[in-house]
Amino acid sequence: MSDQRQAALEYARQNKEQSLKLLETFLSIPSVSTDPSHLPDMQDAANWVASQLRDLGMQKVEIYPTARHPVVYAEWLGAHPQTAGARSAPTVLIYGHYDVQPADPLDLWQSGPFEPTVRGESLYARGASDMKGQVVAALKAVEAIVRNGGLPVNLKWLIEGEEEIGSPSLEAFIADHKELLASDFALNPDSGMIGQNYPTITNSLRGLAYFELRVYGPASDLHSGIYGGVVHNPANALAELIAGMHDAEGRVTLPGFYDKVRPLSAEERAEMARLPMDEKHYLEQTGAPALYGEAGYSPVERSGARPTLDVNGLLAGFTGEGSKTVIPAWAMAKISTRLVPDQNPADVAGQLRRYLEQSASKDIRWELIEMHGGAPSISDRNNAGVRAMGKALESVWGVQPYFRREGGSIPVVGQMQRLLALESVVTGFGLPDDNVHAPNEKLHLPTWYRGIEAFIHFFLNLASKTG
Ligand code: BES
Ligand code: ZN
Repeated sequence: MSDQRQAALEYARQNKEQSLKLLETFLSIPSVSTDPSHLPDMQDAANWVASQLRDLGMQKVEIYPTARHPVVYAEWLGAHPQTAGARSAPTVLIYGHYDVQPADPLDLWQSGPFEPTVRGESLYARGASDMKGQVVAALKAVEAIVRNGGLPVNLKWLIEGEEEIGSPSLEAFIADHKELLASDFALNPDSGMIGQNYPTITNSLRGLAYFELRVYGPASDLHSGIYGGVVHNPANALAELIAGMHDAEGRVTLPGFYDKVRPLSAEERAEMARLPMDEKHYLEQTGAPALYGEAGYSPVERSGARPTLDVNGLLAGFTGEGSKTVIPAWAMAKISTRLVPDQNPADVAGQLRRYLEQSASKDIRWELIEMHGGAPSISDRNNAGVRAMGKALESVWGVQPYFRREGGSIPVVGQMQRLLALESVVTGFGLPDDNVHAPNEKLHLPTWYRGIEAFIHFFLNLASKTG
C-alpha cells in the first residue's frame, strides 16, 4: 500500500469523531425542499456545503441561484497534467444533494428529526442516510487525501437542493453549464447497499412520474343520510379509479404502460436471482404479512427492473377522531409511477390521462396535476470509475461488490447521460433498514466509516496505475 493511502486511511480513522460532529451540524439544518416554509434553511444548507468546500481548499466555490433552490458548485483542477506533471489525471464530478424529504409524521420519531442523536451503532436524523451522510463521507475522504499529500485527481462538485422533488432546476443548470461540468465520469453516492456485508454498485435506477389526482363531486360536503345514494361520493369514485389501475395479476392497466418496457434478458434475470435478496429478505425488511406484485417476476425484479404504480397519499372526507356522516365534496390522491428503460414520464402522464378519460364516471369531475418526474437510467458497468470503485469496495469489505438495479430514482443520472454524455458510478453506504423517507431515518455508523475509507481508496485508485 502506498504511503499516501496508508496516511489518508489512518487520518480518517483518527478523525471519526470529527466526521460525526460535522455530519451532525449538517443534519441540524432542516432543509426540506418541498416545503416553502423551509426556504431559509435551504439557503443555510447551501451555504454550509459551500463553506465546507472552501475549507477543503476547493476553488471557484459558487452558489448558483435557480428557480427554486440553489446549486453549489466547486472545483479543484490542480491535478491537471500541465501543473501536476501527472500523465493523465482524471476529472471526477462528485454529485450530491443537500435537501431532504419532509419529516412527518413527527410523533413517530424517537428523537427530533433535526436533532441528530446516536442510539446504539446508528445516528438518527432526517437525511442521515439519504444523503447528507453520503455527502459528508465524500467531503471527509477528500479531506483525508488533501491533508496527506494532496489530491491526485481533479474534482468538480455539484451539490443540489432539489433532488427530493425531482431535480426540476438541475436539467436547465446542466444544459447551461456543459463546459463547467465536463468530466470523465461522475461519482453519485445517493444509492445504498443490499446489506452491511454486501458492498453495492447500482447500475440502473428507475424513473419516476408523480401526479396529484383530484376528484370533485357536490358543490359542498353533504349529509350522507339525506344525499347518500343520490350523488356519486368523490371518495368512492376516487377509490374505484385507483382500484382499476391494477389488474388481478398486479399489472398496471394504464393503456400502453408496458409498450416501451425493455424486456429482461435471461442473463439479467439469472444475475438478479443470484443477489442475496429473496422473498425472506423483503418480508424481513418490510414487516409486511406477505409480498405483492406483478405476477411472473421475483421481488428483486419487481423492485428494480419492472415499472410500478403506487398511491403515496389519500385525502378525503372526515379523518379526525370519532365519526361524522358526510359525503365529501372532493377527494385527492398522490400517485406515483416508477419507470424502467425505455419508459418516460411524459408518455406515462398521457397514459394516465387516457385511463381517466376512459374510466372516470361522468357524474364526477377530475383534474390531474403533473407534479414531477425523472427518467430511468442504465449505467455503463465497465468504465474506469466503476472499476476503481469496485476495487475500493473490495479493499474495504473483502468481497467483490454486487451490481444491482435500484428501485429508487435519481433523476440526475439520466440527465447527465443525456446532456453531458457523462456516466455515473452510483453507490452509497445506506442500508435497507435505514428508514429513508420514513420516521427514524438512521445511518449505521460502522458502515459509514467504512464508506469513508472506500472513497479514499476510490480516489487514489483512479490515480495509480496499479491501484
Ligand atoms: N437516495 C434516493 C434514491 C434511492 C432510494 C436510492 C433508495 C437507493 C435506494 C433519492 O434521494 C430519492 O429518494 N429519490 C427520489 C426521487 C424522486 C423524488 C424524483 C425517490 O426515489 O423517491
Ligand atoms: Zn437521496
